[in-house]
Amino acid sequence: MTHELITTPTTASVAGPVAAAVVDGLSERAFRDPHLPRFHFTSPGGWLNDPNGLSHWNGVYHLFYQYNPLAPAHHRIHWGHATSTDLVTWTDEPVALVPGTTGPDRDGCWSGVLVDDGGVPTLVYSGRHGERELPCVATGSPDLRHWAKDPGNPVIAAPPEGVDITAYRDHCVWREGAVWRQLVGSGIRGQGGTAFLYDSEDLRSWRYVGPLLTGDASRGVAGEPDWTGTMWECVDLFRVEDVDVLAFSAWDEGTTHHPLYWTGRYERDTFVPDALHRLDYGQAYFYAPQSTRDADGRRIMFGWLQEGRGEEATARAGWSGVMSLPRLVTLGPDGALAQRPVPELERLRRDHVATGAFEVGETPLSDAIRGDQLDLEVTLRLAPGATARLGVRETPDGAERTVVEITRDADAEGGGELRLRREHSSLDPDVDAGPRYGRIPFAPDGTVDLRVLVDHSALEIFAGGRALTARVYPTRPDEATGVSLTATGSVTCARLDAWHMAPIVDRPRPLWP
Ligand code: FRU
Repeated sequence: MTHELITTPTTASVAGPVAAAVVDGLSERAFRDPHLPRFHFTSPGGWLNDPNGLSHWNGVYHLFYQYNPLAPAHHRIHWGHATSTDLVTWTDEPVALVPGTTGPDRDGCWSGVLVDDGGVPTLVYSGRHGERELPCVATGSPDLRHWAKDPGNPVIAAPPEGVDITAYRDHCVWREGAVWRQLVGSGIRGQGGTAFLYDSEDLRSWRYVGPLLTGDASRGVAGEPDWTGTMWECVDLFRVEDVDVLAFSAWDEGTTHHPLYWTGRYERDTFVPDALHRLDYGQAYFYAPQSTRDADGRRIMFGWLQEGRGEEATARAGWSGVMSLPRLVTLGPDGALAQRPVPELERLRRDHVATGAFEVGETPLSDAIRGDQLDLEVTLRLAPGATARLGVRETPDGAERTVVEITRDADAEGGGELRLRREHSSLDPDVDAGPRYGRIPFAPDGTVDLRVLVDHSALEIFAGGRALTARVYPTRPDEATGVSLTATGSVTCARLDAWHMAPIVDRPRPLWP
């Protein structure tokens, strides 16, 4: 077995000494794993979770992420860093933040954001010590490669006094005239998840304003659409057109989590909600999203795709966690957000196969389209009550297959359901096989646009502007390359375009660039 020596990074100004550790070829193992996505961003090996510090700085996209370079496990989290000029290919940059040997982040540098403080790149993140997380600040070199932690950390010494909280972490920071404003995700025991609002002139000294909005934890059942949890992780406040959006990840000890957002109005010190929506029907498979506005004024969002296979298999694989494809977020005609992958990704398309219009029947498609790195675009027209099924990652004998199902309501009011069926996705009993589903809009004539991106174990589905993300792990990955389209009831395929997607990485990458 090969061994990599992980030494203290040369950028240790932020880190202090880091214990040298020996890791057994994590990045080589990760690269060899047939379940590793090839056109999604992943860490070089080890563990990845939330996107952090997402920004477009002097023409360069910066993606930081929760990273453990030592093992595919959530422990002593660092900030990994990658840059891109096109949102398609990424360059690994030096690890940005390393937990301190002393200080408020000695047990991890948890999620946060990057802001431009009069030209000085500044990170606001959650330093973890013991069971506690507190806001910390670090400033960067002009190229954003080297970071120095503020000696005054933590910049907020404790959560608001006199409030019984469930947790306190993650940040959304923005400038409003002469003042900075900050949200910290939290929850008030006995009430629900919340985001605490603060003001500051210098990002170092903060005045507590109050909760921006508090959910009702007694409403709904964990994982159901109206359930907002006991804590809000990774709050993100932004505007799309004339609508304010408060996105958060609804969390509760030991249950399912999911990403949600309120549409409404941010007014002075409060958020007046109008409606609650699900951000992704994959629930925790698209978690802790963060967004930024790029130089073209586009709202770009990334989320964390966690694993759906057993811990042992993950440990063996040497890596855990996928970054979603960058999503373009706009306002849909029904007042909800519409999501789709950024158009830049079309650059990776190869070997175009297209079909003309046809009636979808009981018999599957021909063999012309197959693969485990695919971009599939299908325009379907369904009669009321009809169901279309797009199968991907199918073995020739059909023993393993993953089915994207679309059903139009029988009453034809213009809606229907998107459902991902994974009961046959894998013969491995340790793999999560639960379905995922949610409502999607149809055009009045029953038309819906479906886009499915298959990247080994990562699956991102977009239908009528709604997203559903999940993971699948066929046990015969080399053979599970089939694609099929079948229907029950009357379904017309108005067009089908398919491409292979080129990989963005061609060799193992250093765990500690
Ligand atoms: C969300 C989250 C954040 C936290 C980070 C720790 O996935 O739990 O709340 O800051 O991950 O890695």
